[in-house]
Amino acid sequence: MQITNQKRYVIPVFILFFFLMATGLSLAVNNGPEEIILQTSTGTKPARFPHKKHQAMFKCEECHHTMTADGKKGPYVPGQEKKCESCHNKDFKNPELTSLKAVGHARCKECHKKMEAQGKPAPTKCLGCHIK
Ligand code: HEC
Ligand code: HEC
Ligand code: HEC
Ligand code: HEC
Repeated sequence: MQITNQKRYVIPVFILFFFLMATGLSLAVNNGPEEIILQTSTGTKPARFPHKKHQAMFKCEECHHTMTADGKKGPYVPGQEKKCESCHNKDFKNPELTSLKAVGHARCKECHKKMEAQGKPAPTKCLGCHIK
């Protein structure tokens, strides 16, 4: 069978196309660090956070979200994960959510309590999260 000049390029062009798609997609996903030590500026009670282990159990939007123009909680947007304190700092409008400690306890500890009630081994004691 004779392959015309035109057809000869079809397969390599397809391979190149899929290669670019695959590398483009893998570059676009940033899962962040696998292990995080969470710490406020006072640095008194660092908390360990196995990020990757939680990613395997829960969706990103369980913890990450955005803010709408009018200051409400916005939907999770991949690639827009930010430090919690970039919003939850002393200027945040809801007085119960003005620090990493406040949102750490509200998000982390509350879920762990729920998990414990379901018999799952999520730490609820201070030293289960805090390393000193
Ligand atoms: C159980 C909660 C939780 C889940 C689920 C979770 N994350 Fe995170 N992630 C965090 C916390 C907490 C931080 C640290 C934020 C900080 O330092 O203030 C973080 C940090 C990050 C960062 C670094 C942000 C920065 O600017 O330092 C990225 C990127 C990220 N996460 C992506 C993801 C993606 C993608 C998923 C889903 C596949 C995911 N995370 C799931 C809690 C979570
Ligand atoms: C872009 C700004 C922004 C970032 C970054 C952000 N938040 Fe929020 N968060 C908000 C807003 C806005 C609300 C809604 C506050 C309200 O309803 O009073 C909120 C609400 C919350 C609440 C209250 C309960 C709920 O789900 O509504 C918790 C807990 C919380 N955030 C935890 C976190 C954690 C943990 C991180 C970091 C992984 C984080 N937030 C990052 C803006 C942000
Ligand atoms: C939506 C529920 C949920 C949220 C939110 C959550 N966790 Fe967990 N966490 C779990 C569960 C479930 C486990 C038990 C996993 C296991 O060992 O099987 C766990 C386990 C842990 C462990 C022990 C795991 C180990 O390998 O030693 C630490 C430490 C921890 N979480 C810290 C945190 C911190 C810090 C945050 C907030 C930034 C957080 N978690 C947010 C559900 C949650
Ligand atoms: C599920 C995990 C978890 C548990 C359990 C937990 N904490 Fe925390 N705590 C955090 C996270 C996350 C932060 C914010 C990051 C940091 O500074 O450690 C925090 C912050 C703090 C801070 C602020 C530290 C600073 O430098 O501003 C104090 C104080 C604190 N926790 C005390 C406690 C005490 C006391 C207990 C037990 C009654 C406890 N925490 C249990 C996760 C936890």
